[in-house]
Amino acid sequence: MAASEDPTRKGAPPDVPLTRPEVWPVRRAALAGAAAASSRAADGAAPPAAPLRNGDPHRLGAYEVLGRLGEGGMGVVYLGRAADGRLVALKVIRADLASNEEFTRRFQREVQAAQRVARFCTAQVIEAELGGEAPYLVTEYVPGPTLREAVADGGPLPASSLEGLAVGMAAALSAIHAAGVVHRDLKPSNVLLSQVGPRVIDFGIARARDVTTSLTRAGQRMGTPAFMAPEQFTGRLVSAAADVFAWGSVVAFAGTGRAPFGGGPLAAVAYRIVHDSADLSGLDDSLRELVETATEKDPERRPSAQELLLRLLGHGAAGPRLGDTRVAVGELLHRTWVEGEAPAPPRHPEGARPGAPDGATATGTGAAATMPDRAGEPEPPATADLGLLLEAAGDLEGAEAAYREAAASDDPDQAPKAARNLGLLLKDRGDQDGAVAAYRQAIASGHPDQAPKAANNLGFLLARTGDLDGAVAAYRWAVDSGHRDQAPAAARNLGLLHEQRGETDQARRLYRWAIDSRHPEEAPAAAANLVALLVAEGDAEGATTVFRWVAAHPVYGHEAEANLRLLPRRQGD
Ligand SMILES: Nc1ncnc2c1ncn2[C@@H]1O[C@H](COP(=O)(O)OP(=O)(O)OP(=O)(O)O)[C@@H](O)[C@H]1O
Ligand SMILES: [Mg+2]
Repeated sequence: MAASEDPTRKGAPPDVPLTRPEVWPVRRAALAGAAAASSRAADGAAPPAAPLRNGDPHRLGAYEVLGRLGEGGMGVVYLGRAADGRLVALKVIRADLASNEEFTRRFQREVQAAQRVARFCTAQVIEAELGGEAPYLVTEYVPGPTLREAVADGGPLPASSLEGLAVGMAAALSAIHAAGVVHRDLKPSNVLLSQVGPRVIDFGIARARDVTTSLTRAGQRMGTPAFMAPEQFTGRLVSAAADVFAWGSVVAFAGTGRAPFGGGPLAAVAYRIVHDSADLSGLDDSLRELVETATEKDPERRPSAQELLLRLLGHGAAGPRLGDTRVAVGELLHRTWVEGEAPAPPRHPEGARPGAPDGATATGTGAAATMPDRAGEPEPPATADLGLLLEAAGDLEGAEAAYREAAASDDPDQAPKAARNLGLLLKDRGDQDGAVAAYRQAIASGHPDQAPKAANNLGFLLARTGDLDGAVAAYRWAVDSGHRDQAPAAARNLGLLHEQRGETDQARRLYRWAIDSRHPEEAPAAAANLVALLVAEGDAEGATTVFRWVAAHPVYGHEAEANLRLLPRRQGD
């Protein structure tokens, strides 16, 4: 059974408690903050949502509805919980929109596009359920206030948070535009300030609403236009440049507490956006120039989101090497947001917060923001660790490039590690030959850690592709390496392979060898395998002996419980 699972990657059955050791520590480190932030609300503390009202749903599809997060132009947004405990935001679409066929068709299409957007300073779009009575959109729940709330409650952002906000929004727009999506509605209520950085939400979906003139005519429903680009009023082609304009306006708002084209009636704001220049007084000089070019009237003259990002990161015109941008964004957010000044005050439940509309005037002046000057600094070398970070951020192309570069280097640690991780990546992408070659390179390096791991990986891959002799040889190599973790794992894998081939004597020997290793995970797992084999062979007595032996070892006690359950079940089969 377990031979059909890659023990180093995922989906390991309960009796195969193997993990892919050095990937997860890195990912955990990279994502720990995010996980901590998102689990906080789930860990007993009252989720920051207002109570449900009469008539609100208590369940939407597979989601339990916990409370209200807010209400916008498209409908009410609820806090929900998925079956696996994950918190989500459920945006229930207003009935008049939902009943419009044109809207629904376009909405579906925009949601599909939004699902392709990389999860980088954005909130993931999970799914949309448009068929039923109350159609809704499901996105990742981001704990934290919106930028609009934060500024209304606490005034302009402090310098380091403003820098993080500018970079995070530019990174989000880069990801959104890279997926071929234009946000069209970037504004302070669509930027959430999480513990680990800003997250942009609601990308693309405004389009579904705006295409239908009968729906846009209800002007007051459209929400505030204070952050829209001139071309969104003049009927010219709306492209990614409109989002860059909005980026400039939102950064100005965050730094000064004022929308740069003021508030008031739609027509007045629209006139100022089309004809007047942005009021950036109070915005720190280091951001002002970039905000000025971002808010050029002519979309052609604005930088792209990627250019914004590079300039914020202090990279020269040549741009950084593939993948460096994301790492630099991560570093900068960590420095400015996580370790810097607190990003924002805690959010208020709906109803209790001051109802300042987008673009409302807040008091206070923008503090000085300092931009890092990294120009002239040497680029960091591509390493296996860089590849792992990029893989964690979902940038598989970047990760592959980093792995290849590092694997070709003569770094005695990073090269074998990169080769093995390249193998794992290529295997996941269906390139088996490439994966085999990469694993072989890692094995050939003789690296004390990476080579045995790669041998196990190779064994698994070859077994899956039917090259059983090759798999046996690879596992053998890992067993012979004597590696503390990998040798027992390989012994057990080899045992499973022999069992599969009907070579039960060898299987038994290998399971016993793995049990003797006393490896905290492999030994009990091997015991479970051995028990299962003995039971299958009708040797209930032998199975019981193994079980008793295992149960006598306190370190295996927990696993032994599981084995005990396994025993009668197998017997009853
Ligand atoms: N993914 C999310 N995580 C956490 N809170 C969210 C999420 N999505 C929305 N919210 C909350 O729900 C509120 C309402 O969102 P919604 O997008 O409907 O309105 P809006 O952005 O204020 O206005 P508009 O509909 O005009 O864009 C937001 O202000 C925010 O507080
Ligand atoms: Mg919104």
